[in-house]
Amino acid sequence: MTMVHSHASKAGSREQGVGPSRASPAPSSRSRITDARDFGRVAVVMGGSSAEREVSLNSGRGVLEALKSRGVDAHAIDGIPALLDAVRAGHFARVFNILHGQHGGGEDGVLQGALDSLHVPYTGSGVLGSALSMDKVRAKWVWNALELPTPAFIPLPRGTDPASIREAVRVVGYPLIVKPANEGSSVGVSRVFAEKDLDGAVALAQRYPGGLMMETLVRGDEFTVAILGREVLPSIRIVPKGEYYDYNAKYIAEDTQYICPGLEGAPEAGLRALALRAFDALGCSGWGRVDVMRDAQGRNWLLEVNTAPGMTSHSLVPKAAAAAGMDYAELCWRVLETSFDREQGGPA
Ligand SMILES: Nc1ncnc2c1ncn2[C@@H]1O[C@H](COP(=O)(O)OP(=O)(O)O)[C@@H](O)[C@H]1O
Ligand SMILES: [Mg+2]
Repeated sequence: MTMVHSHASKAGSREQGVGPSRASPAPSSRSRITDARDFGRVAVVMGGSSAEREVSLNSGRGVLEALKSRGVDAHAIDGIPALLDAVRAGHFARVFNILHGQHGGGEDGVLQGALDSLHVPYTGSGVLGSALSMDKVRAKWVWNALELPTPAFIPLPRGTDPASIREAVRVVGYPLIVKPANEGSSVGVSRVFAEKDLDGAVALAQRYPGGLMMETLVRGDEFTVAILGREVLPSIRIVPKGEYYDYNAKYIAEDTQYICPGLEGAPEAGLRALALRAFDALGCSGWGRVDVMRDAQGRNWLLEVNTAPGMTSHSLVPKAAAAAGMDYAELCWRVLETSFDREQGGPA
């Protein structure tokens, strides 16, 4: 990976005249960009310090190569401090954010606020959409308020005593899911079918920062729906070989099946419409991916929104884009285009 160092790139950006103050005038909102130079100098920020660092590096390398292959003046930056230094020094006209995770991981609104304050456009959701999506508990409260379907759940703040955990089990009932309320990539997620597995599941989820949540386990099929601008891409039905879509199935195993579109006709249209409503409800914009379970009765249950979804060779958004006739490089280009909507006064 090529890293941009402040001292090395400053002159370059001057020569090219693409610092933030000199970027080409933004084209009209949601219009297509045809000339790579209109993007200016682009930072692809990846890596960082979250639990999902490795996944982010994989995604970032893919995005970087794809943008370069389309003639975009794109450069890798590892993590937020290096990015902010470079942006403040005027090296970049916009940011493709492919950091994953919270706590300065880049997906939780912190980076978004910093970039807003520096008036530098970026891909993906803004402060609110990023922060709310990262907090699975509060996202579900919003969906509940709007009567959008999401599995029953009980938040378990850090340090919840064993008696309260038992009480939560009585409310949620077996089988259930225990997960960290603010992580991703299925880390710390356990399915619990009986009392004997409860303590282990709680202990595992507690290894990650932040609170936990306990949620009704939905038995059925798993779907994910990618959103790009205002377009909803075909759904993907994920059929893991093992029990569920765990970290191994997501990033390592080669035997998970992906069926895209995941449904047809009215059920597919209904699933896509629900995903867009869930995305909008959390104030998300640009692009993202909504995870949904569908039970045996054909009812959809919202799990979460990912505001900087994976872009590795195993990732889902590229699969959905391919089904919509878009190759990986075109997808990266289209995601980068959505940064212009933000430049023009924020998401609709
Ligand atoms: N309520 C649930 N019912 C059934 N499976 C679930 C449920 N919640 C999570 N899962 C499974 O765990 C995986 C990870 O959970 P998710 O909420 O999407 O968190 P993340 O992807 O951020 O780790 C899902 O892709 C799904 O396979
Ligand atoms: Mg998920």
